[in-house]
Amino acid sequence: MIRIQLEPVGQSIEVEPGARLRDVLFAYGVEFPCGGRGHCRKCRVRVLSGRVPPTEADRSVFNEDELAEGWRLACRILPETDLVLEVGQWQAVILADESPFVFTPSEGFGIAVDVGTTTLVAQLVDLETGHVLGLESRLNPQLRYGADVMSRIEYALQPGGLEELCSILRTAVGSMVERLTSLLADPSRLHHVVLVGNTVMHHLFCHLSPEPLSHYPFQPEDLELKTFAPAQLGWSIPNAALVQFLPCVGGFVGSDILAGILATGLDRTTQIQALIDLGTNGEIVLGSSTRILCASTA
Ligand code: FES
Repeated sequence: MIRIQLEPVGQSIEVEPGARLRDVLFAYGVEFPCGGRGHCRKCRVRVLSGRVPPTEADRSVFNEDELAEGWRLACRILPETDLVLEVGQWQAVILADESPFVFTPSEGFGIAVDVGTTTLVAQLVDLETGHVLGLESRLNPQLRYGADVMSRIEYALQPGGLEELCSILRTAVGSMVERLTSLLADPSRLHHVVLVGNTVMHHLFCHLSPEPLSHYPFQPEDLELKTFAPAQLGWSIPNAALVQFLPCVGGFVGSDILAGILATGLDRTTQIQALIDLGTNGEIVLGSSTRILCASTA
């Protein structure tokens, strides 16, 4: 086995000689925004110790000084010796606040999941009080196939791609939901798991082909609310809990925006208000109780 030390955190891992570093490092939070195509440089690591000869892809994206400093594309490394690598990369930050919102109290507990293109966030909520009792977040495991929704659509349209993207997403969300459920003294009181996300995430989670989203007029056939039993998804939570992915609004306007509109009350206000989602995909909503307009970009 080969030992790889990741700096600046000092994390040490062991891998088989010749293992694809792209597969190994992903589990440690390193992202591969272009899906390992060697274009984006975002996966760059600096070799502090060990031997990694530059590849053709390295030579095409790094200049001579950078190569001499040890910079390499992690997506192209197949390590043959022990390595110490410096990983310089963006880290996901979850922002939250205590803003009040309108809700109808009900019995039991629920889990709300935001299925983001980059980040998955789940909250365990007491449905009687609205209090958040637990939070789980992690990177979307689909990141290894590209950072944006267009790369995901491209991968999903390859043979077996949709199955793979659907399966890893359901497994990741399932493990977060299972961890939050384990916080409950009586897991049978978990009544509802609600997921929201953009239209591509909706399609990939629900195992719907995103093909209509890949070309004009970007009009998917199925934007509907989807309901699952936990066993259908392979999740180990009480099977009486209802799992629902909320409906999308349009081609690239998903249920995350719908949830934002409902939570902020934009649809009930008499004054025109704006809601802006600065995520991996961006959406701007403008409107009031009489009319709502929305634009989005990937
Ligand atoms: S260059 Fe984009 S993931 Fe490696």
